[in-house]
Amino acid sequence: MASTKNLPLLLLLLLITITIITTTSSPLPPSLSVEQYKTARKIIDAMISGGSFEDWSEAFLATNDELKGPVLNSTLFLPKTSVEGINATSPLVAAYHIVPQLLGFNNISLMKPFSRLPTLLSGNSIVVTNNSASGFTLDGVLISEPDLFVSPSIVIHRIASPFNFSRYGDDDI
Ligand SMILES: *[C@@H]1O[C@H](CO)[C@@H](O)[C@H](O)[C@H]1NC(C)=O
Ligand SMILES: *[C@@H]1O[C@H](CO)[C@@H](O)[C@H](O)[C@H]1NC(C)=O
Ligand SMILES: *[C@@H]1O[C@H](CO)[C@@H](O)[C@H](O)[C@H]1NC(C)=O
Ligand SMILES: *[C@@H]1O[C@H](CO)[C@@H](O)[C@H](O)[C@H]1NC(C)=O
Ligand SMILES: *[C@@H]1O[C@H](CO)[C@@H](O)[C@H](O)[C@H]1NC(C)=O
Repeated sequence: MASTKNLPLLLLLLLITITIITTTSSPLPPSLSVEQYKTARKIIDAMISGGSFEDWSEAFLATNDELKGPVLNSTLFLPKTSVEGINATSPLVAAYHIVPQLLGFNNISLMKPFSRLPTLLSGNSIVVTNNSASGFTLDGVLISEPDLFVSPSIVIHRIASPFNFSRYGDDDI
């Protein structure tokens, strides 16, 4: 009888759970802890609530700043220009431009071509396409301003244009 009485509550909880799962628009990698997952979601939501790539940096900085909880060390690749077909308001696009690791240019510049950086977009990584000092590229895009912003928990690098995860995100290139 106690269990029957609780049935509506259980159904409500189930409904809420399903709603949360189905409204999660970008699949985040399973390697994150629950706290890191929540942090990542907040950061992505803040970034895509602006309208442009230019809005990303402020949202990224402000959200990281206000989250006093467990820190998610991360690196943002901030596109300098926009490109038709790659939308700054897409959670998938935003998730693909964040690596959940602290990677200064000193770290990245040591990587060999075809090395991959895991991103917050589950199953998608960024590939090193040219590691020459004069033209270091990831996914074929120049890192135009390395170490634009560096703190103990986040790094921002400016890139010449947005990454295209449809083309480079899979491991099979
Ligand atoms: C973030 O990186 C710093 C090194 O800069 C490290 O000491 C710290 O443990 C890292 N934090 C997390 C949550 O991984
Ligand atoms: C970008 O995405 C938003 C929201 O999904 C949509 O309203 C807008 O039309 C898209 N813009 C382009 C250029 O695709
Ligand atoms: C990045 O480089 C610093 C300094 O060389 C090093 O301490 C750190 O472990 C490196 N981080 C990663 C993720 O390789
Ligand atoms: C890498 O970039 C350098 C400088 O832009 C260029 O000279 C070189 O040909 C590139 N290498 C490859 C494999 O594309
Ligand atoms: C992204 O890559 C896909 C797959 O290669 C391609 O069809 C699409 O045109 C590319 N988008 C842009 C904006 O380059």
